[in-house]
Amino acid sequence: MLFPMADDVPLLHFRRITKRFAGVTALHEVNFELRAGEVHALLGENGAGKSTLIKLATGVHQPDGGGLELNGQLCPQLSPAKARALGVACIYQQPALCPDLSVAENIALRLESGGAWRRVDWRARRRRTAELLNRVGASLDPERTAGELSMPEQQLVEIACAVGAGARIVIMDEPTAALTGREQELLHRIVRDLRDAGTGIIYITHRLEEIAALADRVTVLRDGQAVGTCNAAEVGEAELIKMMVGREVTRLYPPREGDPGETLLAVRGLGCRRGGVRDVSLQLRAGEILGLAGLVGAGRTELARVLFGLTPADAGEIVLNGNAVRIASPQDAVAQGIAYVPEDRRRHGVIPELAVAENMSLASHRRMFPGAWLRPRRERSFALDYMQRLAVKADGPEAPVATLSGGNQQKVALARWLATEPRVLILDEPTQGVDVGAKSEIHRQMRALAAQGMALLLISSDLPEVLGLSDRIGVMRNGRLVATLPGGASATAVMAAALGRDETKEGAA
Ligand SMILES: Nc1ncnc2c1ncn2[C@@H]1O[C@H](COP(=O)(O)OP(=O)(O)OP(=O)(O)O)[C@@H](O)[C@H]1O
Ligand SMILES: [Mg+2]
Repeated sequence: MLFPMADDVPLLHFRRITKRFAGVTALHEVNFELRAGEVHALLGENGAGKSTLIKLATGVHQPDGGGLELNGQLCPQLSPAKARALGVACIYQQPALCPDLSVAENIALRLESGGAWRRVDWRARRRRTAELLNRVGASLDPERTAGELSMPEQQLVEIACAVGAGARIVIMDEPTAALTGREQELLHRIVRDLRDAGTGIIYITHRLEEIAALADRVTVLRDGQAVGTCNAAEVGEAELIKMMVGREVTRLYPPREGDPGETLLAVRGLGCRRGGVRDVSLQLRAGEILGLAGLVGAGRTELARVLFGLTPADAGEIVLNGNAVRIASPQDAVAQGIAYVPEDRRRHGVIPELAVAENMSLASHRRMFPGAWLRPRRERSFALDYMQRLAVKADGPEAPVATLSGGNQQKVALARWLATEPRVLILDEPTQGVDVGAKSEIHRQMRALAAQGMALLLISSDLPEVLGLSDRIGVMRNGRLVATLPGGASATAVMAAALGRDETKEGAA
């Protein structure tokens, strides 16, 4: 143990901490305390200040007012290196591995200290990596390149680093946003193990059901202020939502309207060896939301990438509006009226350096500015419209996307593709990292788009979302579409198909 301490001294203590960015007060006199051996959940809407708070604990940002104590010691001028040395580890909202290095190298980079001339003991390094990955339940080849890993896989590597560093304070910023039920369970187990070993964990999530399942205490932030801290066992979801939003929000899904129209997209025997998609046949009709369920790695994102021309198909055919089409690139897809909102928003979703307005209009330049000249006024009013429709919290359309909170960046990515007014819209985890209020707003938008005749393909790890929103549900497993179930199907039926238990009929959509 790094710091043998009396039990009553909190591991981490923020006292009336304030943080301002140009134009925004991200945190205002927030008090927060993390004890050893507790999971302390941090809740709040997109832009409430959660990530900012933890970046103060990791030394990424400096406070403008108030103080931060680690293990009872006041820590002015905390730097990332100092925070790490004091036992703080953080798994950020977006994994931050070096994409070109292997898993083993990434872990080594974080954990091994020593001069440049120190000889690398490759065998020991490989053994240590394997051991750590094993402890967090990740069956990953340590030699794989980090950039090739899926988001959940990268996250597991990050957690392995934190475990390996022996951190006393582990901060997780939306660790389960991209995980399905099973992986979430696994992660919860890891978190409980850490807690039982005396680690203090700050756990940020937008999935309220995790509070009862995992947290000991919960603190709610609203507009940069701490609204309150409660024992997790003593508050219900409705109460938490009210604390977060300041009003009641229904978590009902918008009703389906009318019957779907003609078939817009038909896929037959679609395969892509590189993407691991095998023999997928499905039909998507105008006005329909087809949900795709499956475990992480089942091939849902890969199927989306094939349909969007990112990893073009090498077998089967794609028929759009009755015409067989070749989609060899995203340009082909966009020209055919297909849009794709990817899951990994940092890598593919937004360009952080560009303004909100520029990000939103990127994919529809040709339609918006037919004369080839960009018209800033038009771009601005268009952006303002989408910012309002999706409740994007930003300093204005000119604000760089990098200054937005994670959930608000996600909304910008969504707006960009909605603006192309596609016929077929593929959404990969559209509400990942989005707060309760914005989530129902996005659901409403999706239903409205369908009602206008768009065909939507929804990939989501959030099973209630798939069940609540889809007209039909396709289930994928090992790159194949193994079942298609009607909209009202039960969670059990979907999970059974996803896991390959045979209580469901196999068949194509
Ligand atoms: N580097 C920055 N520059 C300017 N403003 C910033 C910066 N980082 C955060 N902000 C602003 O501070 C506020 C709080 O953002 P923060 O990222 O802490 O929200 P969050 O609670 O983590 O939200 P989410 O759930 O969407 O991740 C937001 O208004 C955001 O735009
Ligand atoms: Mg955040």
